Amino acid sequence: MRQLAGAVSVVSVGEGAHRTGFTATSVTSLSIDPPSLLVSLNRNSASWPIVQRYRRFTVNILSSAHRQIAETFAGRRGLRGAERYADARWQQHGQAPALIDALAVIECDLDEAIERHSHAILIGRVLSVSHRTGVDPLVYWQGDYRRLDTDADDQ
Ligand SMILES: Cc1cc2nc3c(=O)[nH]c(=O)nc-3n(C[C@H](O)[C@H](O)[C@H](O)COP(=O)(O)O)c2cc1C
Repeated sequence: MRQLAGAVSVVSVGEGAHRTGFTATSVTSLSIDPPSLLVSLNRNSASWPIVQRYRRFTVNILSSAHRQIAETFAGRRGLRGAERYADARWQQHGQAPALIDALAVIECDLDEAIERHSHAILIGRVLSVSHRTGVDPLVYWQGDYRRLDTDADDQ
């Protein structure tokens, strides 16, 4: 899977003191009608009980300026739960926090959580979408963050 380049998102869950969230490359589109998506979440994560409790989550698609936020929500900076939201770029939006300058913010209702192996496959029904243009995505490939080479021509 190290060879599979993926867009990096932070999935935010919960509210107030119960906020937490995780960095994810497993966000995938499921259907357009109705608008829905999938996220695969490790059931050892602190986010799993919060997702089950609130049955809502928000996908924040990160830009190339968000490496530090990705590291924070991957648990690599020692911050847990609501501490991960100390960055001023977060605002409460609906039920879960939203990253103000994210490439896109997709608020979802939890339709279903399918428990398989170590993970839960979250099926999210999209409630609202906002997005920005002219910003590059953050990409993860071979164990490191990358920028998309937007100058590459398609030869
Ligand atoms: C680039 C990247 C992608 C990740 N993708 C996922 C993912 O799709 N699903 C998941 O459960 N964990 C994923 N992780 C790991 C979680 O972000 C990490 O285990 C989580 O934040 C730990 O949560 P906790 O400290 O709140 O328990 C990823 C980590 C990184 C660095």
